[in-house]
Amino acid sequence: VMQRFLLGTNWKMHKNFSEALDYTAKLRILAEAYPEYQYFIIPPALYLQELGKRMAGSLVLLGAQNMHWLDEGDFTGELSPAWIADCGAQIAELGHSERRQFYNENDYDLNRKVHAALHYGMRPLLCVGESAQEKMYGITEEALRRQLKIGLFGVVPKDASRVWIAYEPVWAIGASGVPADPAYVEQVHAVLHDCLVELFGERGRGIPVLYGGSVNQENCVALAERKGVDGLFIGRAAWDMEKFKTISEQLHAYFNTGKLGYG
Ligand code: PGA
Repeated sequence: VMQRFLLGTNWKMHKNFSEALDYTAKLRILAEAYPEYQYFIIPPALYLQELGKRMAGSLVLLGAQNMHWLDEGDFTGELSPAWIADCGAQIAELGHSERRQFYNENDYDLNRKVHAALHYGMRPLLCVGESAQEKMYGITEEALRRQLKIGLFGVVPKDASRVWIAYEPVWAIGASGVPADPAYVEQVHAVLHDCLVELFGERGRGIPVLYGGSVNQENCVALAERKGVDGLFIGRAAWDMEKFKTISEQLHAYFNTGKLGYG
């Protein structure tokens, strides 16, 4: 089955509430213009309740940037997966490199979160990526396989079809990031797809792997056209609606020449 190309953005700790409302209203319209993509947004958790109401019935999926794995407990400052799901979030982004770097998230806890997301009917969007140091030592493949195999441990093949993976090399993310070379991205996506098939058999083949890290209007097509790239996960370049629109247009011109999605 051919799936739609995935196009999404994590807002991180950006946008105030009125900006969030303005952006999402525009994105609803953009999504109607480009039904060939599955758009999704991952706003700050504080906005999920309102955005969940406003985005219900739209073509745009909604996600959370993080959550706890337990339903409730004495965990000051944490958010229950039950609440996240209640707000209408369909996606739980887990293990973004900033969470791993600055908040000590590890693969074992992320595995618990993956199971919690599946339990509440959400799609875990597990982010993996090698650091500059791991790349330098030539252990990119080992690092990624470790992140996938621990992060997805115990997921049964039936649930694997709800998993999304984002490949985001740590050295490519953010203002100080260096965009990854598309040929390198293709190589790494092949490693990730192979590992997913190893874990889940045929079901693993249907798991989309998105690329993220300094995606912009200039490089989006060169990245999207690479084999095994099933979507783009965009930070800075998608926070500005005009830029996100340009990216959508660029990809549209490319997709209309043949490639329609993944799978
Ligand atoms: P960026 O962020 O596009 O701003 O590099 C990507 C990400 O962190 O997902």
